[in-house]
Amino acid sequence: MVQFSLPKNSKVTAGRRFPAPEGATRVKAFQIYRWNPDDAQNPRVDSYEIDLDKCGPMVLDALIKIKNEIDSSLTFRRSCREGICGSCAMNIDGTNTLACLKPISDIRGAVRINPLPHMAVVKDLVPDLTQVYAQLRSIEPWLKSETAPPPDGERRQSPTERAKLDGMWECILCFCCTTSCPSYWWNGDRYLGPAVLLAAYRWIADSRDEATGERLDALEDPFKLYRCHTIMNCTQTCPKGLNPAKAIGTIKQLMVERQG
Ligand code: SF4
Ligand code: SF4
Ligand code: FES
Repeated sequence: MVQFSLPKNSKVTAGRRFPAPEGATRVKAFQIYRWNPDDAQNPRVDSYEIDLDKCGPMVLDALIKIKNEIDSSLTFRRSCREGICGSCAMNIDGTNTLACLKPISDIRGAVRINPLPHMAVVKDLVPDLTQVYAQLRSIEPWLKSETAPPPDGERRQSPTERAKLDGMWECILCFCCTTSCPSYWWNGDRYLGPAVLLAAYRWIADSRDEATGERLDALEDPFKLYRCHTIMNCTQTCPKGLNPAKAIGTIKQLMVERQG
């Protein structure tokens, strides 16, 4: 394999370069973070050159092509391929996003791909989501009600009540927002972060839920909620166009209103 160069200040070493196949007509390089917990080596960046004329249009298409045709050891998560499962969240060209929704044609020069920032890495592009899922569980993201449902069926909502959930039910828990948030980078063990707080507000705002007071009590904490400093990275990066910063602001507002 041929070596390639990284910037002098890079802490990750340049790894292997897989040149484009002979006769390739439209070559694009993909510089991909690699780390294997089993080989005792430092992280490196491998460069794969592929022919875009023989590849689908999205970054995930390129990753799948690399894994299938060039290097089967490359590890990443993906499932739906259409922006629904949230599995393929990663940092592409400096921005957290979904590889299946990111067109290769949006990126000039080499495509730089890293795992979601400030998370422990399981392997290559797979982040360890143990902490964020534990935090999600902590806000009890399910309907809580003492009132029994109507005997003839569902708990109903008016169109206006239902509309209050818009902008929240669409969240796919990809954690692009949480891992772009500087407050979460520094205090992620205690600050819940934008994805989990958006999920918390989704239940606070639900007209069928009867645990609003209890949910707000649980968030009344110097770290869980108030580490949000309205930096807005979360909203800027959300690949589904959602606004977790607004949801966090609304929870803070509810805290003030209930104090009188
Ligand atoms: S608005 Fe709050 S949650 Fe969003 S990035 Fe900023 S500090 Fe983080
Ligand atoms: S709010 Fe957006 S970025 Fe954050 S987890 Fe949900 S879909 Fe992903
Ligand atoms: S593969 Fe499901 S969101 Fe990208």
